[in-house]
Amino acid sequence: MKDLKYYIDRVGQIFEEECFIADPAELYAPIDYTLRLGGKRIRPTLLLVANAMFGGDIDAVRHAALGIETFHNFTLLHDDLMDRSPVRRGQPTVYVKWDENTAILSGDTMFALAWRYFLRQPTPHLQAILNTFNETAIEVCEGQQYDMNFERRDDVTIEQYMMMIRKKTAVLLAGALNIGALYAGAPTSEVEKLYRYGIHTGLAFQLQDDLLDGYGDTAVFGKKTGQDIRDNKKTYLPLRAAQMCDETQRRQLAALFSSHDIDEEEKVQQVMNLYDAVGLKCEVERAIATEFDAAHRALDSIGVADEAKEPLREMLAQLDGRKK
Ligand code: IPE
Ligand code: IPE
Ligand code: MG
Ligand code: MG
Ligand code: MG
Repeated sequence: MKDLKYYIDRVGQIFEEECFIADPAELYAPIDYTLRLGGKRIRPTLLLVANAMFGGDIDAVRHAALGIETFHNFTLLHDDLMDRSPVRRGQPTVYVKWDENTAILSGDTMFALAWRYFLRQPTPHLQAILNTFNETAIEVCEGQQYDMNFERRDDVTIEQYMMMIRKKTAVLLAGALNIGALYAGAPTSEVEKLYRYGIHTGLAFQLQDDLLDGYGDTAVFGKKTGQDIRDNKKTYLPLRAAQMCDETQRRQLAALFSSHDIDEEEKVQQVMNLYDAVGLKCEVERAIATEFDAAHRALDSIGVADEAKEPLREMLAQLDGRKK
């Protein structure tokens, strides 16, 4: 088994060798722009690693790797429009650089292109793989709808938040791992353990994303910070902060998350001041560590040689404390 860097590099090569340009240019240029900007490409890396863990061969999953990342990038085009996010990967988002219709249609096309990639990758396990992919896609959309619904609610619980991020984010990491393992013909029992690893890693990953939205450095994170506050997103940060606040602070926080007349930057500043006053950052870091611990335990339970698990351990080490 190779180390994690080997699989990251192979994913990089696969994308370099692929052409995303076609006619009409108005449709495909934003697709090429998005997929060439890269990002961390965690999901195709997980797919390749899971495949190798069960004896697979990279050439037999290269299109699947392209498919899972193209699907992820489709969700980003639509998500940035829904969240009104101006910057991603340090560059203007598609709806800003082009327009809203472009983000919708290029995004839709990427979803269909993802299917094309999966259909192009021969395997006797195609039915199970496409089923996993499609059920995952449906859950991601459900999660995105809960995320939007929660913007307008003031009674969201931490349990509901965890359900929402499991759907919008964690299932795609878990799905990528399962698809990789299915291509290699992994037994169901092991696919399920891998799924658990993916879910806990994904929960930690989204908790980190929420934390970085408040405490990240825009230049490194590649996204404009404070956007969740501007959007009234009920992330772990305001939900946990509300539990840590005294009564006066709780009223202030609730007022900030329902105000329409306050200047946006002033709102971000005041919310961050409240977070700092209750020592929120440490508390979120503790919640993240709990999910990473659970991911480690799930990985330990998988029935392959310890050496074959090393890249997924490295993945956890790399994600832990990430700044982007
Ligand atoms: C962004 O995903 C969306 C979330 C689930 C937080 P990534 O942080 O994996 O984005 P890229 O692909 O690396 O840019
Ligand atoms: C995104 O969650 C989840 C999906 C794209 C499905 P966020 O809205 O927090 O992701 P970012 O922060 O914009 O990348
Ligand atoms: Mg967003
Ligand atoms: Mg969003
Ligand atoms: Mg976010």
